[in-house]
Amino acid sequence: MHESGGGAMPGSGFGGWVAEFEAERARREWIADPEWEHGVELPAVVARSLQKFQVGEDGDGANLRAKADRAGDPEYSAAVRLFVDEERNHARLLAELLGAAGVPLLDGHWSDGIFVRVRRLLGLRTELMVLMVAELVAVEYYRSLRDGLADPLAREVTDRILYDERRHIPFHVRRLHQSFAELGPVARPFAHLAWLLLALAGALFVAVDHGPALHAVHVSRGRFLLAVTRHAWSVGAQLTARDGRAPADSFAG
Ligand SMILES: [Fe+2]
Ligand SMILES: [Fe+2]
Repeated sequence: MHESGGGAMPGSGFGGWVAEFEAERARREWIADPEWEHGVELPAVVARSLQKFQVGEDGDGANLRAKADRAGDPEYSAAVRLFVDEERNHARLLAELLGAAGVPLLDGHWSDGIFVRVRRLLGLRTELMVLMVAELVAVEYYRSLRDGLADPLAREVTDRILYDERRHIPFHVRRLHQSFAELGPVARPFAHLAWLLLALAGALFVAVDHGPALHAVHVSRGRFLLAVTRHAWSVGAQLTARDGRAPADSFAG
């Protein structure tokens, strides 16, 4: 598969996203952090699950930034830098939350190590598909925790992260739609199928690995899997929509 993901020219429409991310950064600086000193009570299985998500949120932003730079669209590159800052802020919020609960951070996790290594081998298009799966999983995961946890601080942190993850989906849809449109009519259905299989595999992996934490917030593995798959189906339709039905920037998530 051709992997340049390029073809975007300056002024290709990501200026609006740069403004949106900058407004969010200003809002983030304006609202105070949650009051960590109140302490947090987390079920042990949820704490263990959040330790792994904290490592994942820390991610590999330099790798994505380099690929975005190579795609040759300065507005998109600027937007990706601001996007990476938001993901780093999630890692920071989760680190504070775990600290307030007296739970140590992990240095790294084997599944995340594989995730990062595989992503380095990918072109921008495939990388964004993998990232998009992570966003869909994150939306369901943080929503489940926010709605199912009793602790007010834990609910506040997961709600803040959920708010960002929902915004990230239309951001990636916009760039991936452009990248899918560059594929020929033969390759596009394969890319669509690859997207659905990737999403199913990612959702299955997380449903199994984080099943006990989901169970603790009254969400079954099956329900989690179904929710992510349905969302992936709808995203797939947006990625392959013809230009006349280009994806909207405001996607409810
Ligand atoms: Fe995140
Ligand atoms: Fe995200």
